[in-house]
Amino acid sequence: MPLNSSISEAVPPTSVASPKATAVLQKQLFRASIAHYPNNAPDMSSAMGSAYEQSIEIFTDGALVIEDNVICDIGDYATVAQKYPEAVVSDYSGKWIFPGLIDSHLHYPQTQSIANYGDQLLSWLENYTFPAEMAFADEEHAKNIAKVFINQLLKNGTTTGFVFTTVHASSCQALFSAASDINMAIVAGKVCMDRNCPSKLKDTPELAQRESADLIDQWHNNGRNKYALTPRFAPTSSDAQLAALGELATQYKDVFIQTHLSENRDEIAWVNSLFPNANGYLDVYDKHHLVRERSVFGHGIHLNQQEWERLGEANATLAFCPTSNLFLGSGLFNMEQARTNNVHVALATDVGAGTTFNMFKTYGDAYKVSQLRNAPISPFEGFYLMTQGAAAAHQLDDEIGNLNPNTTADFIIVEPRFDELTSLRIGENASFEDVFFALSILGDDRMIEQTWISGQCCYNKKENQHALA
Ligand code: GUN
Ligand code: ZN
Repeated sequence: MPLNSSISEAVPPTSVASPKATAVLQKQLFRASIAHYPNNAPDMSSAMGSAYEQSIEIFTDGALVIEDNVICDIGDYATVAQKYPEAVVSDYSGKWIFPGLIDSHLHYPQTQSIANYGDQLLSWLENYTFPAEMAFADEEHAKNIAKVFINQLLKNGTTTGFVFTTVHASSCQALFSAASDINMAIVAGKVCMDRNCPSKLKDTPELAQRESADLIDQWHNNGRNKYALTPRFAPTSSDAQLAALGELATQYKDVFIQTHLSENRDEIAWVNSLFPNANGYLDVYDKHHLVRERSVFGHGIHLNQQEWERLGEANATLAFCPTSNLFLGSGLFNMEQARTNNVHVALATDVGAGTTFNMFKTYGDAYKVSQLRNAPISPFEGFYLMTQGAAAAHQLDDEIGNLNPNTTADFIIVEPRFDELTSLRIGENASFEDVFFALSILGDDRMIEQTWISGQCCYNKKENQHALA
């Protein structure tokens, strides 16, 4: 079926919008079971599941009303439907509506190099990652992979990603440009590296600062795009480069910072030898004003007590990437420490060290990691860490992460019984936590029926349609 150039009243609202389609100016009401967190879960440090269970909002027979690109109402179908007699109704009874999912750390240039056998972090970077990233000197390649990458996000229900690009500023342009075509809220940045990597992937302190500043001017808060200063990790940046990026972090206070931290023991030993004057790994970044609100650190598996406390005090966020941590043999993230020290945590895939684009499956592996630590992460907490919890950690919860009126209409429609086994396991009338948990263990992209971004259907499984065809 061809894509429609715009959605109008005559076209069913489930048809996939083409890039830059005009939104429907009529209210649309979606009937389904609905779950979201309208607010932050209270008292995170003592949460251990129950606070999450108490603060979730669930409408078993619910209604979500959108107009143009904004959510205008949510509640029980019986109450909400009578307020909007003029709305176009789509009935998805038996399915679930959730907020669009947030993946807080992943690499689009590693889309093609996902699932490579046999190495731990440092040799994996040398053998697979750097070669894959070198190909992004070619702008056409970057544009093609950006499309495939965004389509993978949509197919898996992810509507916002915190994305590493490559050292080439043009690779960052390609991603922002593709995301803009569907009004997708992407946070991304040009990777900065001036040492310990192939010469073709090296910039300099001055170039990193100038190109990052130019990209901020062009893309930060342009539409729904946001910029993240992106030093890859301490070993590939000199002190001079970190200082140059720290200057930008101080100048542009609402810009994000994303990097890696304490992922692998060999990496940590290397950082200690490269930065003998720093008091540990986190301090390398801290000395250069890179530890603050809106700093997102990937991994943080082998942190010491001082580092946990500093992350909590700085209001920074750790991206917990369980599929990556298991795949590279990096270690088991300590969620209890994060709770105790009031450190924001957001779930993330870390594709291509991560093994899936699917955030449900990512929680499934977070649960297995937490089982190995004998402190299971509940389905409620897992759901929080990919929706409202992530959005609040990133200070974006007035736009994404929940289904509150006046937030942007980013949401997904989930079919819990997408095959014989899930039909058998989930059955009729299953609770939110049972559906969410079973799908996190058994699910894959087949459970995502539709992905809506800014009030437009950007992926529809039934018609196998993506907005970025
Ligand atoms: N540390 C530095 N770069 C990377 C990367 O690309 N992936 C992961 N998992 N860790 C890193
Ligand atoms: Zn990463």
